[in-house]
Amino acid sequence: MLGGTGSIGAPILRWLAARGHEAIVLARSDASAAAATRLGAASIVRGDIAAPDCWVGALPDLDAVVHMACDFAGPMAAVDGVLIDALLPRLAAQPDRPRFVYTGGCWLFGATGDVVATEKTPMSPLPAFAWMVPHAERILGSQAVDGIVIHPAMVYGDGAGGVFRRFAREAVDRPAIRVVGGEAVRWPLVHCDDLAQLYGLALERAPRGASYIGAAVEGLAVGRIARAFAGRFGTPERTPAVISADSIALELGPWARGYALDQRLSGAKARRELGWAPRHLDPEAEIAALP
Ligand SMILES: NC(=O)c1ccc[n+]([C@@H]2O[C@H](COP(=O)([O-])OP(=O)(O)OC[C@H]3O[C@@H](n4cnc5c(N)ncnc54)[C@H](OP(=O)(O)O)[C@@H]3O)[C@@H](O)[C@H]2O)c1
Repeated sequence: MLGGTGSIGAPILRWLAARGHEAIVLARSDASAAAATRLGAASIVRGDIAAPDCWVGALPDLDAVVHMACDFAGPMAAVDGVLIDALLPRLAAQPDRPRFVYTGGCWLFGATGDVVATEKTPMSPLPAFAWMVPHAERILGSQAVDGIVIHPAMVYGDGAGGVFRRFAREAVDRPAIRVVGGEAVRWPLVHCDDLAQLYGLALERAPRGASYIGAAVEGLAVGRIARAFAGRFGTPERTPAVISADSIALELGPWARGYALDQRLSGAKARRELGWAPRHLDPEAEIAALP
């Protein structure tokens, strides 16, 4: 597993360990190694995705690779390219071809507006993540692996984790919660535990070359998310403060422009073909019930 301690990876690691899979997790620090062990990793490979030549040779033969590692502060495209360049020849040398689940994302579909995008919808990626499209195609087309791609929706966690973390923080720290681009901007959503189930099902059942959108909720307006948090935490101003994509990009980096994309995405293919059954379908009720 690459990225087994992240907001997407940690629940997948827990899910795999609970199902008796032996997960080998790449960790770049002592803290990451300790977190992976706590989450159920069978063993740790120490290393950095930016320097794969230092650890790829030490990998045992693998049944599968699950890749959701990303350093948003670094040169994401170059790091991911070098990583794939090093991994594929190593995996091609195995006696049995492993599965390779690659992580794309909802922001590769651009602003869909009222159209509900599916896996057949042409990609229109946010520029900061445009590199992911050819990288995903490379994994899907590689002869070294049985490639599968998952496109997660916006991932929220238990309590106020994942993409909800900023809403929860601003609900108590600011007079009004900020939303990017307008209250009507819709985000497709998925709870991290439901997404972990989708990765697990894809690992166990997906055919080679398949892509799946991991969206449990097609699109929920960010204004409704912000208002739910403001109501739960008693934020003085219930109406969110609208900021621009330019201003969030200045604050966090160009990738954060994705927060302004108005999207609707369908998770129907994963439900139909893999039997994916997400259980978290009402994020506003979950926010209202937060402790
Ligand atoms: N979160 C979402 O809503 C969402 C939605 C769609 C797509 N995605 C995509 O999913 C991927 C993962 O997102 P995430 O939200 O899970 O990110 P995250 O929470 O920041 O986790 C990133 C993971 O990558 C690891 N990592 C980062 N830099 C590394 C390095 N140099 N060497 C080794 N490991 C490294 C981190 O390990 P440490 O423990 O060392 O930090 C962590 O396990 C990204 O490509 C993102 O674009 C995310």
